[in-house]
Amino acid sequence: MRRFVIVGQRACASADFRLDDLPGTSGRLDVLVRCLRAALLVSHGVRQDAIVYLVLGGGVPAKRVVRVEGAAARFLRPDERSLATLVKKSLAAEAEGESERFVEVRPGIAVRRGGLELVLADLGDAVLVLLEPAGADVRSEPALDAAHVAFFVGDHSGFDDVERRWLIDLGARAVAVGPVQLHAEDAVTIVSNEMDRREASNSRRAR
Ligand SMILES: C[S@@+](CC[C@H](N)C(=O)[O-])C[C@H]1O[C@@H](n2cnc3c(N)ncnc32)[C@H](O)[C@@H]1O
Repeated sequence: MRRFVIVGQRACASADFRLDDLPGTSGRLDVLVRCLRAALLVSHGVRQDAIVYLVLGGGVPAKRVVRVEGAAARFLRPDERSLATLVKKSLAAEAEGESERFVEVRPGIAVRRGGLELVLADLGDAVLVLLEPAGADVRSEPALDAAHVAFFVGDHSGFDDVERRWLIDLGARAVAVGPVQLHAEDAVTIVSNEMDRREASNSRRAR
């Protein structure tokens, strides 16, 4: 199981943003929905073994988390506007955002109050990986061989120092997909590809 926790420092935690100006009105929720697409959607399909958490740190009901489970979500479309619409409707459906547990608002999509620290409780025994360009090379990183891995990904402004330190102190491995700082969704795509390659090679060996 792969989990991706995408941390939006100012991403809008309410439905109060405009779909026709997503970058300008949503605290860059556009970055998060592109990560959602990269983590969950493949050509003509949805990854059944992936779960994405969008941590929304901006606006009045912040913080809130939207969780999307690939195995259960229905009618996910790959374009940014459709995914942003889905997030907007999900946030509106749980408008008060007061629940301290994940409330399912449509199949496979749940919303809860809280930030990064509360997502941790949902990650089970996942090995924690913090994606950052200064980390260890993903190609030789043993953490990706674990059965359950949770990747933490920053938005356009990255992680703040406190969050980063907190994750490292929890045991997160800092891992880089390459030496160049990329857009967040590209880092998600590359790390997903690395997982795909390892899984394919393991199943070839098992045959
Ligand atoms: C656009 S980058 C953040 C840029 C931000 N200005 C900073 O200094 O952190 C967004 C996120 O993508 C991920 N990322 C980008 N390039 C990466 C790389 N080469 N290796 C691993 N993760 C990367 C990181 O999680 C990063 O927080």
